[in-house]
Amino acid sequence: MNESQTRNLFDALAPFYEWHWGRAFLEDSVNLFRRKLAPKLKPGDLVLELCCGTGHFAQWLAEQGYRVTGIDGSRAMLSFARKRLRRGQLLRADVRHFRLRYRVDAIVCFYNSLNQFLEPDSFRAVLASSYRNLNPGGWLLFDIVLEHGYAQFWETDEAFAHGEIMCELRYRFDESQRLASCLVTIGPIHRPLAHRSQLLLWQRPYSLRFIAEELRIIGFELVVVKPVSEGNPPDGRLAILARRPKQLHRTDQRHVSICSPTRYRD
Ligand SMILES: C[S@@+](CC[C@H](N)C(=O)[O-])C[C@H]1O[C@@H](n2cnc3c(N)ncnc32)[C@H](O)[C@@H]1O
Repeated sequence: MNESQTRNLFDALAPFYEWHWGRAFLEDSVNLFRRKLAPKLKPGDLVLELCCGTGHFAQWLAEQGYRVTGIDGSRAMLSFARKRLRRGQLLRADVRHFRLRYRVDAIVCFYNSLNQFLEPDSFRAVLASSYRNLNPGGWLLFDIVLEHGYAQFWETDEAFAHGEIMCELRYRFDESQRLASCLVTIGPIHRPLAHRSQLLLWQRPYSLRFIAEELRIIGFELVVVKPVSEGNPPDGRLAILARRPKQLHRTDQRHVSICSPTRYRD
């Protein structure tokens, strides 16, 4: 399964993000933002959230007085986010190749979202697009799951219900392939199994060494690396804060060419 198919699977998951995960992930994202980024920003600064999902965090940002833009690839996720976000802009785009008409003061990307990019080139493309869309001196904050986070905590099952619909998740980590999977089964609680549908989502661990090198090549300064003990996994997850330097580096010449905006084809 390729990454664009994975992205479309989020359309099917959108109601569960709306009811369950969007809220469940919010507190963790808020804590990360408050500790690592908020002290560096001022009210009215422009903050972009990549992979904004159903917009719970984007809405929280707007309530704090930031100007907010959210980007996500899933139409269904964004339709929930549109109902939630009263002030701010939401765009449907691929975070690997996006271009805004304005530059932003900070970019955030939370809850294992960067681990969804299974190929190093895709991961790199998200960082490079972020760099291009940041003001000089702007910040990039994201979390990332390392290999031991998946190896220790990804072998688990969970299930929950919303009304008559149940959602079951089976998390597995294949150490030889270095791939984490999540098999999602969705369907009516009281109907036979044949009425349920299944989706398979993938994530890949990235090492701090890889990330630090990619940030450096793109031109970012690595400012903070801290383990995150809240949320899932409770160990083997890092918060990373990087900054686009205020002064243009010589290496920036390679990155100022702005790629054309990506439009999704349905
Ligand atoms: C794990 S969810 C996280 C949502 C949100 N950040 C949160 O914490 O609740 C990942 C999100 O990434 C989006 N996504 C995945 N690949 C994408 C891509 N290439 N471009 C834009 N969005 C993408 C999905 O549609 C989904 O909403």
